[in-house]
Amino acid sequence: MCAPDQDEQPRTPASPPPSRPPTRKQATLVKQLLRAVKRCSVIAAVALATLSLQPANASAAPAPVVGGTRAAQGEFPFMVRLSMGCGGALYSQTIVLTAAHCVSGSGNNTSITATAGAVDLQSSSAVKVRSTKVLQAPGYNGVGKDWALIKLAQPINQPTLKIASTTAYDSGTFTIAGWGAATEGGGQQRYLLKANVPFVSDATCQQAYGSDLVPSQEICAGYVSTGGVDTCQGDSGGPMFRKDNAGAWIQVGIVSWGEGCARPGYPGVYTQVSTFASAIASAASTL
Ligand code: ARG
Repeated sequence: MCAPDQDEQPRTPASPPPSRPPTRKQATLVKQLLRAVKRCSVIAAVALATLSLQPANASAAPAPVVGGTRAAQGEFPFMVRLSMGCGGALYSQTIVLTAAHCVSGSGNNTSITATAGAVDLQSSSAVKVRSTKVLQAPGYNGVGKDWALIKLAQPINQPTLKIASTTAYDSGTFTIAGWGAATEGGGQQRYLLKANVPFVSDATCQQAYGSDLVPSQEICAGYVSTGGVDTCQGDSGGPMFRKDNAGAWIQVGIVSWGEGCARPGYPGVYTQVSTFASAIASAASTL
């Protein structure tokens, strides 16, 4: 069972972190807490999605994602909202790339609805398509390998997002987008929000997360010293992307986890897409 949002998250240390590394016992506790956050977040996101879609309110537009702004209609046409309360991106017109922790396993699955083609989830022009199958990353056990594919019953006629197959674009400034919470513990969004976040090195990210980070499989991003901009609950599975040398969008990350949202010292952690590009391509070819 998931405790309420605030309680399930590890608390931010009230004082600066100790200069000594945590004991094994402390590290294990932190790991368990982080895994609980990961496990619970989707369920929490679903509850939030059903209970609190934000009304349109132009005069008090919420900070999107966290610290974001509204995306324009058609700006990120590959963005998908999944009915379990996650994001995704069109890998092809019939396959959505999302996070492994957003799905419960592999096999035939007609329970997921993918919504695309509109920044407003309540738009009458939004396209809704059911899933037929789910493929969770082989060997996924809650640590690393946080990717999954969802096969759709009909193609969605929107541009797709190509994935990075080398580390060439695993640096610089990234764009994040999603319908997830705009503040830690906040409600899901009706309108797609976007923000930019800088790359954070593995070494810096490990200062926040220690051995919970799997550096070869995860890529971090955010404003470490100030916080304030991040993905959050309900953005999971959505893409982190940037422009390639030809000016086209390319996906470098999948929203995965973090301690709270947009906290100073705690960047967002994303699946490193380049690490899994060939596994994703071969899995897609079986769907
Ligand atoms: N695990 C969350 C979800 O299921 C995503 C959390 C991202 N957190 C962050 N601080 N970047 O939606």
